[in-house]
Amino acid sequence: MKEIKITSKYKIFETREELSGENLMLLEKAEEARNKAYAPYSNFNVGAALLLGNGEIILGNNQENAAYPSGMCAERVAIWSAASRFPNEKILKIFISASSSTHQVDKPVSPCGACRQTIAEYEFKQDKNIEIFFTGETGIIVRANSLNDLLPLAFDNSLL
Ligand code: THU
Repeated sequence: MKEIKITSKYKIFETREELSGENLMLLEKAEEARNKAYAPYSNFNVGAALLLGNGEIILGNNQENAAYPSGMCAERVAIWSAASRFPNEKILKIFISASSSTHQVDKPVSPCGACRQTIAEYEFKQDKNIEIFFTGETGIIVRANSLNDLLPLAFDNSLL
């Protein structure tokens, strides 16, 4: 028996002023998408902005449904939109922003498990890391260099 240790490093931006111009623009796009979310059941609005290799910016937001499990997260709406429109383009960065109409979301909102698995699929497919930035409406912004840092030991198609 041996024990292994897996570590992850994240960058923390205390304020949005610490972001580069491009990253601030992408965060603002995620916020723009967030403000158009359809979340009448949870009142929890999430927006995602993706930067593709060809410079396209793809947006998505959560879409809820009266039959609750039929809804979809912002990240997957954006990723599948990108994959369906630009199947051969690499996803370079994902920005995620969340807010609520019932309380101040001041902690970074990281992608849920199913969204992590979905991002993993495209990171494996494109064989290039995807930078993931996530935040609340206010507060710190967290940057992971790769999905691998959010989902170590991920299931992928090499295991099929
Ligand atoms: N949600 C997202 O859009 N992304 C996540 O990573 C976590 C959760 C949405 C789903 C649902 O519409 C609402 O947030 C509350 O869970």
